[in-house]
Amino acid sequence: ENGQVEKIDYVFKVVVIGDSAVGKTQILSRFTKNEFCFDSKSTIGVEFQTRTLTIKSKVIKAQIWDTAGQERYRAVTSAYYRGALGAMLVYDITKRQSFDHVARWVEELRAHADNSIVIMLIGNKADLVELRAVPTEDAVEFAEDQSLFFFEASALSGDNVESAFFKLLEEIY
Ligand code: GTP
Repeated sequence: ENGQVEKIDYVFKVVVIGDSAVGKTQILSRFTKNEFCFDSKSTIGVEFQTRTLTIKSKVIKAQIWDTAGQERYRAVTSAYYRGALGAMLVYDITKRQSFDHVARWVEELRAHADNSIVIMLIGNKADLVELRAVPTEDAVEFAEDQSLFFFEASALSGDNVESAFFKLLEEIY
């Protein structure tokens, strides 16, 4: 702490969504704390973390919300999406089903979030190359079709996590 009071120009709310176990919580902790936890437990309820960064010389506080992918823990819909300017929609490149469900998550966003929400599709666990079940081209095609931004990333290695969040926040800005 250097004693300086940080001047925040904007607070951007971002929600992280996607099936259970795709790595939502780990992507968030990689971005906000540069940490990865091997024994992470399933999220129950809703949590948020923040990171303050500078984009085009403005100080932006990203307030990033994480919730459980499991239906039985999801008491939220409208309240979770309220005021969200961006969404990180995560699937696991090694689990075809998590990618097949992406369309449903997009529908949920279109139903509950603001029309202008910026959506970033993330194919997580890109470090598990030998276990890949979703070809990159399938995701590229879906993202283009639905006007989403897209990155493959790894919360474990950290690859592209920072780039994906910066791109999303820049687009919001
Ligand atoms: P819910 O809270 O149930 O919705 O799950 P989640 O999407 O938040 O998943 P979480 O972050 O808890 O990660 C699920 C599992 O995947 C954990 O065992 C993580 O260690 C693992 N995991 C997450 N990200 C990666 C990654 O980039 N690479 C690899 N190899 N494993 C990962």
